Amino acid sequence: METTKYIWWNGKLVPWADAKTHVLTHTLHYGTGTFEGIRMYETKEGGAIFHLKKHMERLVFSAQSLGMQLPYSVDQLSAATVELVKANELRSCYIRPIIYYGFGEVRVMATNCPVEAAIAAWPWGAYLGHEPARVTIVKTIRIHPQTTVPGAKLTGNYINSMLAAREALDRGYTEGLLLDYQGNIAEGPGENFFIVNGKTISTPALGSILPGITRWSVMTLAKDLEYKVEERPIAPAEATVADEAFFTGTAAEVIPIASIDDKPMKSAPGPVTKHIRDEFLKITCGENPKYRDWLTFVK
Ligand SMILES: Cc1ncc(COP(=O)(O)O)c(C=O)c1O
Repeated sequence: METTKYIWWNGKLVPWADAKTHVLTHTLHYGTGTFEGIRMYETKEGGAIFHLKKHMERLVFSAQSLGMQLPYSVDQLSAATVELVKANELRSCYIRPIIYYGFGEVRVMATNCPVEAAIAAWPWGAYLGHEPARVTIVKTIRIHPQTTVPGAKLTGNYINSMLAAREALDRGYTEGLLLDYQGNIAEGPGENFFIVNGKTISTPALGSILPGITRWSVMTLAKDLEYKVEERPIAPAEATVADEAFFTGTAAEVIPIASIDDKPMKSAPGPVTKHIRDEFLKITCGENPKYRDWLTFVK
């Protein structure tokens, strides 16, 4: 990956190579951290960070779900991000904030470990490529809501994502699709899931999934474009016969799904997925004034 000059670390910009932590860092052992993935897009008016505030709000919510005493507010973390992308002279990039328990004591309760924060940013392209994804339903199920907090973006939750993604890749697919504990579709390892039938767009309700910021944006946009949008359980058998299906996520953006377990969707990208994806990308590039407040411009 392409590195940049600085990483913001506990309130200061430090050279990329110096942002190192101790091997007894609590989060390294117990998965007790939280992170975000944010994109900055290049626009005619300079870089624009997509939904910076919403991402920082989710980060703070996730930290609170672990009982962390976070020494930074949403506004301070947002300002630090703007400072970082400016210092690194980035025009478009991926931004990765992380809050974690550092080294203090080795035991499950992090009572004597400092809460540390870092933000890195670097140039990054398409995550799942540009081709429609070939997806498989994996054996690994999405974390149960009473096992951890699926709605928080916790580092430990990503064991679940990694096992699912590895299973799909090992079997030659682009991406995995996880079911929830009730057997309905939950989401991908790093993406939310949608199906389309006619003018109706359906997505699994919150509970077992991460409340994706791209999911929220696409639902809002689709309603504005006069599609019917519903959040409800989606059984695997229903998904495979839908007109279209797509994934959403900061990394993946809006990616059409070509097939689920080798059963091809009726079209990929289908007309609705294409419409939503095109309108979404216009927003991220600052080309739709209606959604200007979704962007933080970095002059
Ligand atoms: C498990 C999971 N679901 C969904 C998403 C999509 O969320 P967002 O659109 O906020 O990037 C992500 C990515 O962060 C994820 O890791």
